[in-house]
This record gives sequence, C-alpha cells and structure tokens, in this order.
Amino acid sequence: MIFDALNELVVDISPLVVVTATVGLLVFMGFLTFKSVSSDNVLSGVPELKGVPVLGAVPMYLKYGMPQLVSKLITIGNDGISYANVVTNVLVSVHDPAMVREVLAYPEEIASREGDSGYMSWSPFWTLRRLIGNSLFNYVGPETNYRRNAFIREFNSTKSNSEKFDTITKLARAHTNALTGEGSTAEVDNIRYSADIFAIALWGEILYGNPNNHVGGHVLSLSDTIIHLAGNPWSSIWYFFQLLLKLVTPGESTRSEAKIRARLAKVVERNMEKLEEYEHNNPDAPLKIIRRLSVMTGGGRTGPLSKFASEFTNLNLFGGHHSIGLNVAWSLIDLDKHPRCLAKLTAEINSVDTTHFTNVNSNMPYLDAVIMESNRLHPTVHATLRVINRETTLASSGRPIVLKPGMLVYLSFLHLHTSPTLWGPDAGEFIPERFLSGNKKHQPFMPFGYGPRSCVGYKISILAIKVYLITLLKTYKVDVKDHGHKTKVGTLLQTMKPVSVKVSRRS
Ligand code: HEM
Repeated sequence: MIFDALNELVVDISPLVVVTATVGLLVFMGFLTFKSVSSDNVLSGVPELKGVPVLGAVPMYLKYGMPQLVSKLITIGNDGISYANVVTNVLVSVHDPAMVREVLAYPEEIASREGDSGYMSWSPFWTLRRLIGNSLFNYVGPETNYRRNAFIREFNSTKSNSEKFDTITKLARAHTNALTGEGSTAEVDNIRYSADIFAIALWGEILYGNPNNHVGGHVLSLSDTIIHLAGNPWSSIWYFFQLLLKLVTPGESTRSEAKIRARLAKVVERNMEKLEEYEHNNPDAPLKIIRRLSVMTGGGRTGPLSKFASEFTNLNLFGGHHSIGLNVAWSLIDLDKHPRCLAKLTAEINSVDTTHFTNVNSNMPYLDAVIMESNRLHPTVHATLRVINRETTLASSGRPIVLKPGMLVYLSFLHLHTSPTLWGPDAGEFIPERFLSGNKKHQPFMPFGYGPRSCVGYKISILAIKVYLITLLKTYKVDVKDHGHKTKVGTLLQTMKPVSVKVSRRS
C-alpha cells in the first residue's frame, strides 16, 4: 500500500519539492506527537481507541485502512458508538441500528459524504471525486432529488427494468455459454470476473448499444484501480500533504489521478463512438439509456451528452459491475457450502418459467431469500461514511453525544448484518429461510444503504444478479473449488482468493 502511494507521490511531485515535503513531514510528525499527547477525550462518555503511545490510532489507520480500524472501534464500543483520533480527524464508529438510521437520515446540512469543502476531510468520497469527477455521490443541494429521480425512473422501476429483461437474459446466456465454449466442462479461474464481464457487457449494450467493444479486461483493471485508490488511506494522506504544501488546490486531481481520469475518458470516448454508430444505423430505434438520461436532463437527441449523463458515464465504469460480480460469487460460495439450499433453489428454478420477467422479478421467493441472505452475510458495500457539517446531538443515543463539524462518522453495514446481538446466535450462518418468514423490519438489513441517499441502481442490479445465477445454474452444475473462502474487507467486501469453479454442462 505504501509503495503505491510513494509511487504516486513520485509521479506527482518534482525532486525539488521532495526536500520540502521531507521537512514538512518532520514538522508534521512533531505536530502529530504534540496533538496525540495533548488531545482530550473529545466525545465525552464515549470509549476512545487509544492505539499505540504517542501516535494513537494513526499507525493502525495507515497500515490497515479504515475498515480494520472500524472493526477495532466496534469491539470497544459495546453500546453502539466509539471513536479514535487520527491526526486532524476524529473517526466515530456508529454501529447501533437506531443511531445508524439516524445518521443516514440526516439532511445534507447536518452530514454529507464529503463534508464541507472548507474542512477537506479525509473522506474516501473526496478521493473518488478526484478520480471519476462529479457524480451523484457528491451532489448536495436542490438538484440532487431531480438527479436521483432520473436514475430511479431508469434503473429502479419495474416498468423500465421489464423492458431490459430480454437483453439481460440474452447476454446472460451468451456469457454463461461462453464459459465452456464447444466443450461440456471448464475450469473458470474467477467466476466473479466472469460475472463482472457479463455486467460490463450489459451496461455497454443498454447504455450505448455496444456489448462487444466495451472491453472487459480494460474496464475491469481500471475500475479495480479506482476502487483500490478510493479506499486507500494513503491517497488521502498524500493529498493532505500536497494541500499543506499548496501543491494542489482543494478538490483538484493530482497528476496521477488526472492520468486515471484520462484513461476513463478514453473508454467513454470509444463507447460514444459506438453510440453514434448505433444511432446512425438505427435512426428509428428507441433511444439507448445514456441518450435517454441525457435527453431527460436537457441534452439533444444526437451529439454531446448533457452534463448529468456524461457524469454518469464515469460513475458507471467505476461502479456498475463489481458489486454484481461479487454478489454472484458470494451466492455461489454460500450455496456450495449448503447443498440443501442449493437443492431448494434448483427446484424453484425448475418449477418456474424463467423466461418471463414477472416470474423472475416477483415469483421466486427462495431466490430472493438466497440473494438477501448472501447480502446479509457479505454486503459488498460493507460500510459507508458521513462527514458532520453542522453540530448535532445524536438523539437515539439516549445520552447527550454531540457530533461536531468535521467528524467522520463510519457506519458498518457488515456489523449490523452479522451481529449475534441483533440477529441471534445463528447470525453467522447462511439460512435463507430467515427472509421467508416475513419482512425483517426490526432487524437492520441495508446492503443498498438507507435513507435519502440510498442506492439508485438497486433493482437493476438484483435483476441482473438473479438472471445470471438462474442461467448459470440451469446450464451447469457448478463446483466451487475452494470450500474455505474468507472475506477480505477492503473498499468492497471481497474474497481473499479468486473464486475458481468447475462448470459441467447439464445434459
Ligand atoms: C449489487 C450492486 C450494488 C450495491 C450493493 C450498491 C450499494 C449501494 C449502497 C450501500 C449505497 C449507499 C451508500 C451510502 O449511503 O453512502 C449506494 C448508493 C448509490 N448507488 Fe449503489 N449499489 C449497487 C449498484 C449500483 C448501480 C448498478 C448503480 C448505478 C446505476 C448504483 C448507483 C448508486 C448511486 C449513484 C448511489 C448514491 C445515491 C445518492 O447519493 O443519492 N449502485 N449503493
């Protein structure tokens, strides 16, 4: 991790400046030592993670990153809240369901993903913005709801998703069939990437009319890089230094970040060429989605996209497929470990006509339960964060806990989904049936977030995951080779090792 960051520093800064940076570093270490020794318990009555002498929680944050630091905080904050001082930041872990809901429901004047630009917090959403540009993630203000609604109409509505169903099915068939080609069996190195590439092709087709040239490998490695950098504390640390030394203006990308944006722009450019080709060859065909989103938000029926639609092109390349691939991979791992559940699911798949949207969307309760249970145990977006913009008191804490401007509040969905206190002694076990006995409203389940800024791509993602899983399990017997896959809590909740499977065609 540190080598990536050093590499980035070298790319961004000329050798002359390195000397200044070193002096800056020494001054900074002095400041850090002083701060650590003199810091008071800023959240009175709330447990603080002291970390190591003098440097406090800083080494832990730098070595392991945010998710591991939050795990530590959760273990010391039995009643749902704890915190750590990390250099200029106060990291608060809120992990009680009522408190999490309260924080996620805060209006943006009280808390947002980046915080006030005046504070330049270390929120990973700042890094994300420098890498992919503006997106709904960082939007605040009156335009936000209008933008959310455009996404929701296109991706979270039953009507618009029913129109995409045939395309999803066609691509799922093509991609699953390609796993074995002409043969009847194949060893797949990482089924997660196969499902990712299906999702990339899906976006290429529905957004641009471009399923084939939306180059899988290229987009995969690019979005892997972005995801890694966005969740890496060093990206924020180096940026903090560069700001301190006035080498960048707040919010502006560094040179290496700008290079990544240029690579994204190239992929988008190729997709746009395909869109223009499609529109030229099919003048009377329905508009592709990126064009629809553009027209909906003030763009023309040809030519450049509206600002809104072109911002979505980057967001989609970074975040449109990984969670879909991971969901497929985790579901297969869980089913492989639980043959009883796999048999029940297979029976449901075989008893329903899965070529009909309504059946897949609404008449497969066991498939729904499997996907929910897999998302409970392995929420791919395992946490999020808010930065406090205006002083507020946590009402649901039952005692006066005052959150102050600039504090970073981390919210772990993984903890809420797997805590035995909240889900009972079998919390760690894969039991899809728990989702069959009515909606678990009293238990915290939020793989797609909660409140006014929850996911706007939720329903299309679930549909794509369902169709891919159905097609895969109908076509093949799937054997997950490693029976001990462990979670890797990075920016997303990944597997430690690639999920290799053997697929054998059913006769
Ligand atoms: C399985 C796939 C997905 C998962 C698990 C997922 C999860 C999430 C979660 C947990 C949030 C809330 C984050 C927070 O509170 O800070 C979120 C927000 C968001 N998601 Fe998704 N997501 C998925 C797919 C998608 C797709 C396909 C799109 C694009 C069409 C998308 C676009 C967004 C956007 C734009 C937001 C921010 C919404 C706002 O700020 O108003 N997501 N997602």
